[in-house]
Amino acid sequence: MLRTHTCGQLGEGQIGETVTLCGWVDTYRDHGGGLFVDLRDRYGLTQVVFNPPDTPAEVIEASKTLRAEFVLQVTGTVAARPEGMANAKMATGKIELRVTGYELLNKSLTPPVSPSGKEEVPGEDLRLKHRYLDLRRPEMQKVMMQRASIIKGMRDYFAERDFIDIETPVLGRSTPEGARDYLVPSRVHRGAFYALPQSPQLYKQILMVAGYDRYVQVARCFRDEDLRADRQPEFTQLDVEMSFVDQDDLLALIDGLVAKLAKEELGIDVPTPLPRMTYDEAMERFGHDAPDLRFGLELIDCTDLASEAEFRVFSAVAKSGGRVRGINAKQGTKHFSRRGIDGLTKYVAEYGARGLAWFRVEDDGKLNSTIAKNFTPELLEKFGERMDAEPGDLLLFVADQYEVTCKALYALRSKIGREMELYDPKTMNFSWIVEFPMFDYDDEAKCWHAMHHPFTAPLADHLEMLETDPGKCRAQAYDLVINGSEAGGGTIRIHDAEIQKKVFTLLGIDEKTATERFGFLLDALQYGAPPHGGIALGIDRWVMLFAKLDNIRDCIAFPKTQKASDLMTEAPGEVDTMQLKELHIKLDE
Ligand code: AMO
Repeated sequence: MLRTHTCGQLGEGQIGETVTLCGWVDTYRDHGGGLFVDLRDRYGLTQVVFNPPDTPAEVIEASKTLRAEFVLQVTGTVAARPEGMANAKMATGKIELRVTGYELLNKSLTPPVSPSGKEEVPGEDLRLKHRYLDLRRPEMQKVMMQRASIIKGMRDYFAERDFIDIETPVLGRSTPEGARDYLVPSRVHRGAFYALPQSPQLYKQILMVAGYDRYVQVARCFRDEDLRADRQPEFTQLDVEMSFVDQDDLLALIDGLVAKLAKEELGIDVPTPLPRMTYDEAMERFGHDAPDLRFGLELIDCTDLASEAEFRVFSAVAKSGGRVRGINAKQGTKHFSRRGIDGLTKYVAEYGARGLAWFRVEDDGKLNSTIAKNFTPELLEKFGERMDAEPGDLLLFVADQYEVTCKALYALRSKIGREMELYDPKTMNFSWIVEFPMFDYDDEAKCWHAMHHPFTAPLADHLEMLETDPGKCRAQAYDLVINGSEAGGGTIRIHDAEIQKKVFTLLGIDEKTATERFGFLLDALQYGAPPHGGIALGIDRWVMLFAKLDNIRDCIAFPKTQKASDLMTEAPGEVDTMQLKELHIKLDE
């Protein structure tokens, strides 16, 4: 080793020792007589001092050419800092290294992104372009280490429970997670393509048929879909599958993992079993299938009252099968002025709502608004009661199709929760949403889609609904939700080839297509497939939530931008004509 200690290691215990450190110049200060450098590595910072009498004059002279991010090997004596110079904020703040000699290991150009924690963080594009400098920043290094620790915690948990880590191919056939595939052209098979896995779903089911009853993998998944703050085209799952289990077994297994990691990583005790809520209840109470349960502000249905109103917007929607639902922003009148409410109206419009009806609750408890004249006092009172109105409250309503009320009011709830600081952003909330619908109906294409994926088993007593009422059929499907973010999802699978065929038929996948795409799975199901089920956890999202980050890119070493490019390597890039020719590809310019 070129060093005896790291830059985060020295303390009063080493005073008097001669040591050698290696690291980068974080900051340097020339004090006329000598130079003070904070030397940095991933373990911390140590103040190294080039001063007489410890440092020879020629070494001091040479040190004056040192600049930010130069790489040094420094040898010297550990000494207590002079009286009054200790820095309580620094782990090594009681000591300094009095340099006797140093070696310049490398120079650096002036960094466009300063890795020093003391400088302002530049824009993201610059950070991504010079990711090696950005990753040198202590904040990034902390997140990378936390990521490694979370993954290790996950691996250990499953290894202790007899799970086997098995790798599955990256070059394979299209997998059915519902996103667009990334395709890889085959050189050998003209006109044929591999698809990068959207998840190892089919392979892990095959492994169950093969008798590997407890499978786990840290698996890379690829999905060509529109990116958001919590989505990457290439992301990592902790992928799990088990045989001879039911839904309760799987949820209990993941409950244990949540409790372990919350304790180890965040020092918090999470009581288990984690709370469970059905999909239908979540949609009714929150308008979303991954509700943020750190605060209340639930959606309240007033459709029956709305149908009695003279106010056409309400009554017409209520009578035509739509819904009128509202939320009560407690003491919201103090927070939102008329202009503020106009802002909220514009905001819900982005989510498809045609308007936002509102009432302020006055000191006498009466509901007041520009639309109040369209309601009888009795009806207003009923609205007030339903909404649990108290003086100072702000009642907000959306009247529309059910789906629009869900979307708009969930977005509104999130915005108000954040702006009125209804929760402490440091708290963590873990819960399960269960009993998802098997299918959702695509009005445009006039067909059913699998809500999770087509291998999901219906609830045992909903099997018949596959034929009689697919829209009502609920699945043995479950999502893990952390602070309003879908952090994992899985299902109990269909292990009966006949039921699997029935589901394919319902999804409009004819026998030929089914055989072409999933023939191997259908075959396997006929050779003694055990009952099985599993789950995949979004590791990137876990790290993002555990590290309290707003953006998934901040917990991935080399992420893609919103436009799915890598600014450092400039991928995707053009390839030369020869390569295309070998792949039998001609570009349609
Ligand atoms: P699903 O599609 O729900 O299930 O994915 C599981 C979890 O992966 C995370 N995730 C993502 N994270 C970052 N970027 C993305 N683009 C992205 N897409 C998904 C989410 C999600 O909950 N094969 C099934 C699992 C199973 O049934 O066992 C699957 O992939 O946290």
